[in-house]
Amino acid sequence: MKILAIETSCDETGIALVTGEKTPGGLPAGGQGFVFTTEKAALFSQALLHSPYGGVYPNLAKREHLKNLPALFEQFKDDSYDAIAVTHGPGLEPALWTGIEFAKKLAAERSVPLLATNHMEGHLISSLAQKEHSNILQNDRMILEEVKLPVLGLLISGGHTELVLMKDWFRYEVVGKTLDDAVGEAFDKVARMLGLPYPGGPEISKLAEQARATKDGPLWSLPRPMLNSGTCDFSFSGLKTAALYALRDRGGVQKLSSDEIAAFAAELEDAIADIMVSKTRKALWDTGAQTFVIGGGVAANRYLREQLEALVLEEFPDVELRLPQLSITGDNAIMIAQAALARALSGLDDTAGPELRAVGNLSIAS
Ligand code: KG4
Ligand code: ZN
Repeated sequence: MKILAIETSCDETGIALVTGEKTPGGLPAGGQGFVFTTEKAALFSQALLHSPYGGVYPNLAKREHLKNLPALFEQFKDDSYDAIAVTHGPGLEPALWTGIEFAKKLAAERSVPLLATNHMEGHLISSLAQKEHSNILQNDRMILEEVKLPVLGLLISGGHTELVLMKDWFRYEVVGKTLDDAVGEAFDKVARMLGLPYPGGPEISKLAEQARATKDGPLWSLPRPMLNSGTCDFSFSGLKTAALYALRDRGGVQKLSSDEIAAFAAELEDAIADIMVSKTRKALWDTGAQTFVIGGGVAANRYLREQLEALVLEEFPDVELRLPQLSITGDNAIMIAQAALARALSGLDDTAGPELRAVGNLSIAS
């Protein structure tokens, strides 16, 4: 089965053409797995355009998607496929609508079904899929099989922070989520306070790595909100405010040396990693998950990956850890195609009609 997928939920415009097949062996439920082959993928990041705003500006995102979709589609105009999958949520509604309208029109023109796909399921399913090891020439082949259920997913991005349990294939329960800001937003906002460009996560991460390598600089101390709340929920707005006050108390970021700024970035990353590790530990205990996977843009964070890997190795040796390929952590259309294919090949019907709408707060558990 071949799917053309369209992703426009935030500030990346993505189109991908991906083939999916069932493989024998692997999936406990149903006894099969999937192999996905990316035939073609196009991605345009608007990050630089949003940089002056320190975050994604929805109407600018919309305008850019409207411009980028037809431009990217040029590469796909002669292709054929069995269905079109489009992200219908969660995300920024004006941005989501652009992809939905584009996909609706195309599906009607080509007389193929339109499938509605959940962005967070895209992050989760694509993070569970592994690169095929046997054939290094086929970099674009990803295999999704031998997944032990239940799966706990830590989905962390600029818009979302949630711990999700997949007990059965494609059936989700949210075991914890942020009560305010998303973790990527915390990285981005504190990065802005430090005068770093958007997106701030990778910038903070680079500085933090430098600071850890030198191990000097003044000691900063930021809080770890909700660390002992007894729930798997998160809160980041307090951390953001504490960062603001800590910088203000030192007379503002202009008064700091570059080493002091790097040390601040390291403390922020430490605080975030401590929270992630502690909430993941609780969720793994509470759910008895057999597999742990992380997905979303923040899943590219090297330090966080190391800390979570150490947690699983040291405290949950029976749990299988699946870390996503770095190329797939940020928003893209390949992940949307993979989720849509896995669902369709499992017999789920996601066909949507012309009434398909953007749902900004769409839950993975709905
Ligand atoms: O999944 P994504 O591409 O878009 C959303 O759906 O939001 O995630 C973007 C977020 C941004 O907040 C960005 O700062 C963060 O992912 N991010 C990182 C890293 N790379 C991207 N955060 C921390 N460390 C990174 N290396
Ligand atoms: Zn995302």
